[in-house]
Amino acid sequence: VEWRDGRLAVDAQFSVALLGPEDRRISGARLRLLERLAARTAFELLPARAVAPETASLLVRVREAGPALPALGDDESYRLEVGPTQAVIEAPRALGVLRGMETLLQLVEGDREGWFLPAVRIEDRPRFPWRGLLLDVCRHWMPPEVVKRQLDGMAAVKLNVLHLHLTEDQGFRIESRRHPKLQELGSDGLYYTAAQARELIAYAAERGIRVVPEFDMPGHATSWLVGYPELASAPGPYEIERRWGIFDPTLDPTRETTYAFLDGFIGEMAALFPDAYLHIGGDENNGKQWNANPAIRAFMERRGLADTHALQAYFNGRLARILARHGKRMVGWDEILHDDLPRQALIQSWRGPGFLAEAARRGHPGILSWGYYLDLMHSTERHYAVDPLPEGSDLTPEQAARVLGGEACMWSEWVGPETIDSRIWPRLGAIAERLWSPAGTRDVADLRRRLGLESVRLEDLGLTHELGPARLLRRLAGAGAPASLQLLAAVLEPVEDYNRGRLFEAVRGRRATQRLPLTRLVDAVRPESEAALKLGDGVTELLLDAPRFLAARATLREAFAAWRDARPGIERLIDRNPTLEEARPLATSLESLGATGLDALGYLAAGVEAPESWRSQALVRIDAAAVPHGELELAVVPALRELVVAAASLGRAGQLDAQGFRAWVAEQARPAPQPRR
Ligand code: ACM
Repeated sequence: VEWRDGRLAVDAQFSVALLGPEDRRISGARLRLLERLAARTAFELLPARAVAPETASLLVRVREAGPALPALGDDESYRLEVGPTQAVIEAPRALGVLRGMETLLQLVEGDREGWFLPAVRIEDRPRFPWRGLLLDVCRHWMPPEVVKRQLDGMAAVKLNVLHLHLTEDQGFRIESRRHPKLQELGSDGLYYTAAQARELIAYAAERGIRVVPEFDMPGHATSWLVGYPELASAPGPYEIERRWGIFDPTLDPTRETTYAFLDGFIGEMAALFPDAYLHIGGDENNGKQWNANPAIRAFMERRGLADTHALQAYFNGRLARILARHGKRMVGWDEILHDDLPRQALIQSWRGPGFLAEAARRGHPGILSWGYYLDLMHSTERHYAVDPLPEGSDLTPEQAARVLGGEACMWSEWVGPETIDSRIWPRLGAIAERLWSPAGTRDVADLRRRLGLESVRLEDLGLTHELGPARLLRRLAGAGAPASLQLLAAVLEPVEDYNRGRLFEAVRGRRATQRLPLTRLVDAVRPESEAALKLGDGVTELLLDAPRFLAARATLREAFAAWRDARPGIERLIDRNPTLEEARPLATSLESLGATGLDALGYLAAGVEAPESWRSQALVRIDAAAVPHGELELAVVPALRELVVAAASLGRAGQLDAQGFRAWVAEQARPAPQPRR
């Protein structure tokens, strides 16, 4: 990026001219660009207006359209130059034009003189060729319009693979004409027809996004067996699984009839999904049905298969031949790694980065998903730090070249159509940047600033990650005033990792099911509390101002006072909505954190070291506030702990420089192991 002086005005005459071969992706992208620009600027831009290349505001020059369907390794590069009279996007292929147009839309700014593009020269191309998002449309069904708006968002952040996880214990989500009982009995009627799948594929292709379908085998397969129990390794009957977890039902890899069935099914899917890659799953096969079946055990013995992993490798070998016959390359989860696996099979690593490196060493192409699990509710910063080819990797250049990129995963145990956007966005933008931009692009503060801007633009595309949670909260507040509940929700985060299910079970004494409505407070809370991040920044600023402790003091005091006073308002809402009952202890904790914060600020402002008795009692209150309720945590707890430690350590503040004091406080405030419940 080379910033230059000057700007190109964006006015009501903004026009786009295309030079190069006709291509429906480019003409479609041109229309969408003008629509988005018009919506933003409120100008009546005329898409149909023909303009000469010399006079167009934006000139697009493309050498070759390139293949109509996106494929791995496509040239996505472009050059964008904004000068005082014209912007120019030049690209070797149509996909580069699409990527360049997204960059151009990100550059539009307004000031008192009007809308404009800053003068700049950008040369851009992706670091990795495989940059994806997995959508689990099985645990919770996602209608086509939900997928389409994710595709719009993916295009905006230059992702290029949609991985559709189409079959699971909890649902079979694609129409098979050859084996119609798969969807008829395995889906509650919630599946993509072949026509809908084709429409999604076309919609994705217009945006330069491949669609890779996954049919998870031999485990995670209960929904197949409802209609076809003869495929199972244990007698049926089977029902669609409604709970979350790892289950026993597994395809029988020893019967030729299984492979005949799969050959027909994969042939059908290979014709429907045009991408060269087809995902066969392969994860979390617990082997229980196999070990319990004497015929399967005898088969293993006859063939010298030492364990269920070896039997699964045999199954994968058969699958590889079926895929090859239908012209597809195999993708599978890292469990499929085995000496007998054909080298072309692509490994998707989810259990750890070591599996990706191991696959590359053994000659397999691979992609990383470990570290990119959006369902685990990790912070943007944590995802951003994960790199498919981390610094210090010991792979040879040849092995490193096999690392093709990564995919974020949106598993859908705890998301439905109404909440999925807020679980994907804007965090996916950070992962998209990791996969596109140079490895050295790692400034977290700058990422946060830019992601905040991008988040708003993503909502313009129809995504609902900001408005969706607000609407859910409004519903929970009912006719009452939502302000106090909004204040609480703003500092809450859903518990991380797989703790949501664990806590649900611990509190309710049973596992959650597919039928649980995702309309509780935890569903109305975003994965990363912006308010907690800001508060953390405020506390840092204050500590770096030692020993004066003036910085950010007013903002912090205001926040703490609001928390201290919010409880009565929240309780009025809880009293009228039993669903909110689980938030009652959180409201009490918020009040206590507010009061504690105000105390701490008082000591710091007065320059009086807080007594040890106050410190220990305050930390007990903070530990209590750290306990999750309703699968939610107060995300401001760590910052409060630091403030308490600082207020009780003014002597230290006098002995250390500001940075040293801040580091010392952070060390002291590191929490004891999290209380569990
Ligand atoms: C997986 O998360 N079981 C791929």
